Amino acid sequence: MSLVPTTQDSPKLREFSAEAKKRIEWLYTRYPVKEAALLPLLRLAEEEFGVVDLPAVACVAKEMNLSPGYVYGVLTFYTHYRREGDGTHVLQVCSTLPCALRGCREVVHHLEKRFGIQPGQSTPDGKFTLKKVECLGSCDTAPVVQINEDYHESLTLEKLDRILDSLV
Ligand code: FES
Repeated sequence: MSLVPTTQDSPKLREFSAEAKKRIEWLYTRYPVKEAALLPLLRLAEEEFGVVDLPAVACVAKEMNLSPGYVYGVLTFYTHYRREGDGTHVLQVCSTLPCALRGCREVVHHLEKRFGIQPGQSTPDGKFTLKKVECLGSCDTAPVVQINEDYHESLTLEKLDRILDSLV
């Protein structure tokens, strides 16, 4: 499965696998009401399909008997799900106050210059996506950048470049 989904890759319909359905049944037992399992189901959809695109939203909505619009609203409230068009490496730069006081603006400018993109954009080769996000919950090690699942903390521009060089 490609890590760089494009609109062309998106099927019209998505279905959870039998294995995923078992996990969904287990997830429902972990919450007092079914609707409370929406965030973990979106994460499961991301694992299952590689991206939470509109067909994945429809699949989750059908599974939970919710409207696709509601599921899409929840999905787009959060920044941490892989969305359609995201690059292989999603760089999420925390821009909340503690990180702002510790140089996140310089981090964003550095990444803008390095990749020639603005926050919200991906490089033309689909390798990197730059996002500015709210607190990543690691304020004591600001500035923080999350790259896919990994946190990189107490960053300097030199340290960041070394990390990025290792990803190219
Ligand atoms: Fe950046 Fe909390 S403000 S991790």
